[in-house]
Amino acid sequence: MKDSNFLKENNARHLWHPMAHPAEMQAKPPAIITGGEGCSITDVDGNELIDGVGGLWNVNLGYSCDPVKAAIASQLDQLPYYSTFRGTTNDKVIELSYMLQEFFAPEGMKRCFFTSGGSDSVEIALRLARQFHKVNGEPGRIKFLSLKKGYHGTHTGGASVNGNANFRTQYEPLLPGCYHIPAPYTYRNPFNEADPEKLSALCLAALENEIVFQGPETIAAFIMEPILGAGGVIPPHKSFMPGVRKICDEYGILLIADEVITAFGRTGAWSGSRLWGVKPDLMCTAKAITNGYFPFGAVMINDTLADVFESDTSGKGAIGSGYTYSGHPVGAAAAIVCLRETEKLQVHQNAAERGLELYQGLLDLKSKHELIGDVRGGHGLMCAMELVSNHDTKEVADKETISRFYQETYKRGTMIRISGPNVILSPPLVISASEVSSMLNAMDDAFATIK
Ligand SMILES: Cc1ncc(COP(=O)(O)O)c(C=O)c1O
Repeated sequence: MKDSNFLKENNARHLWHPMAHPAEMQAKPPAIITGGEGCSITDVDGNELIDGVGGLWNVNLGYSCDPVKAAIASQLDQLPYYSTFRGTTNDKVIELSYMLQEFFAPEGMKRCFFTSGGSDSVEIALRLARQFHKVNGEPGRIKFLSLKKGYHGTHTGGASVNGNANFRTQYEPLLPGCYHIPAPYTYRNPFNEADPEKLSALCLAALENEIVFQGPETIAAFIMEPILGAGGVIPPHKSFMPGVRKICDEYGILLIADEVITAFGRTGAWSGSRLWGVKPDLMCTAKAITNGYFPFGAVMINDTLADVFESDTSGKGAIGSGYTYSGHPVGAAAAIVCLRETEKLQVHQNAAERGLELYQGLLDLKSKHELIGDVRGGHGLMCAMELVSNHDTKEVADKETISRFYQETYKRGTMIRISGPNVILSPPLVISASEVSSMLNAMDDAFATIK
């Protein structure tokens, strides 16, 4: 490793960081992380922090998952790359596809399509949805519906269904034919409705209203995260996703569950769809599929789609999508072992238990600290606090205060993620109760300091 002076001098000088202004990164360079062990990371100055972010919602098994590391190393020796484009495949991807269709059988999934990450998975799911209708004799179904506040990556299709202007405005024009429904976000919504069940009904009515307005025969799919993540952790009422499924069925619209964050245990269930008892048509996965150790993803495809594509004799069912790294043998080897470890450790159970402790702890902080306007969570290890300067007007806290909160929490040995007014917490699913309590203490002290 280069020495710390070199790293600090060159930090953010020669690279542009995702989701950040290049000038801001140069003025306020990012934390340089140089090590990881268990659920903790170490920075260039040797400070150790509990990783309340879990990498980026992906390091579910922590930084010391040796079986996954060993699988990657040994696959690099055996076969570091071969393509899965028509005509060739590899042993690992065959094994992984078998495991994944078994793992997601309760969601009704039958087939996989491999990608290099979450945005790729979303793009493939959107493309397959349109193609399904063309193969199935309804070529007019080309539009997509999604939720405001939803996050679906940054490829152009994904950005078009994203529900946050930050990822859209500077890249317009995006895909035509994408329309957004209010999210079931009780703290702020156009209906001024704070009751989760009533809000769910209102959002479902808005969805149906939009479908009728657009013409159901023009709509290919509705895409949603079972619990909205990057938009600020917004768990809907339990009636919401089943209600979406029902409406989609009524109007012949496919349901795409974007499970890039929620698959593999984060919500306390094995998937967000399973948490809500819903069988989607397509599921987008990535992130924790390899514990973040290798860029990889999988789109899961249900039997309805499988039947239509596989019985097609017109040629329209041929898949005209694919990435050089679709089914990368090293990623597949990592995912096989990661899935085994995930199941062996039953990480969804720890996620549920530690998740409730974290959520309860955040609610306790809310009763002590004025800056916290809203606390969201209660389903596994995905929680958020929304920081406000005024509880009545819900005016968001100023950037400087939020940045001081981040710095003070960092100094106390906990890494958190700031996104607008939201503090987002998504630690590894193997985190211990004492680590959760250290995170809460660090944030408690940080709030007290910046008061
Ligand atoms: C729900 C969801 N979909 C898609 C993506 C995009 O994934 P990636 O960043 O791997 O492209 C993300 C990333 O956070 C996500 O949270």
